Amino acid sequence: MFRNLVLVGFMGSGKSSVGRILSSLTGFALVDTDALVVQEAGISIPEIFRRHGEEHFRQIETEVLQSLVGRIGLIVATGGGVAISAKNRDLMRQIGPVVWLDAETEQLHQRVKNSKRPLLQTADPRQTIEDLYRAREPLYRESATVRIDSTRMTHRQTAEAVLAALKENGDPS
Ligand code: S3P
Repeated sequence: MFRNLVLVGFMGSGKSSVGRILSSLTGFALVDTDALVVQEAGISIPEIFRRHGEEHFRQIETEVLQSLVGRIGLIVATGGGVAISAKNRDLMRQIGPVVWLDAETEQLHQRVKNSKRPLLQTADPRQTIEDLYRAREPLYRESATVRIDSTRMTHRQTAEAVLAALKENGDPS
């Protein structure tokens, strides 16, 4: 077994939904860093971005990750931009094995196109996804010890694939 499990990946990769299933399969508690940021700020994520900007959101996101170091028995679902920061990548490695939930960008677009995610409120969200994905892909790769392509899988299948892959890899934590 592992002490915790951290899920990274692009918006729409299924981190929260797969995290919920992993929580029930392992008995570990699900922690969602976006939810902790909202709790800390007292306003929604779109409001944080609108009133204080992305930089402020990133600062709280790092504080939230920092607060999880030393805890055990958690499934940590992160926000899609968490891997941008080297400090966050280091904190995530301290928390536990990091799993990258990946999917094709067209599939990611289908899953998020009706959402209110601040970074996708652009003239061409499909292109924004492509550009952000290209910039972040190497950072997810660098953060994670395991990559699961969920494009053609249900959340349940993805959760099972995560556990199987970790078993195969041994416990890197
Ligand atoms: C972000 C992804 C969001 C949330 C915020 C920024 C990003 O989380 O943290 O809107 O930079 O990709 P999800 O990946 O859960 O959508």
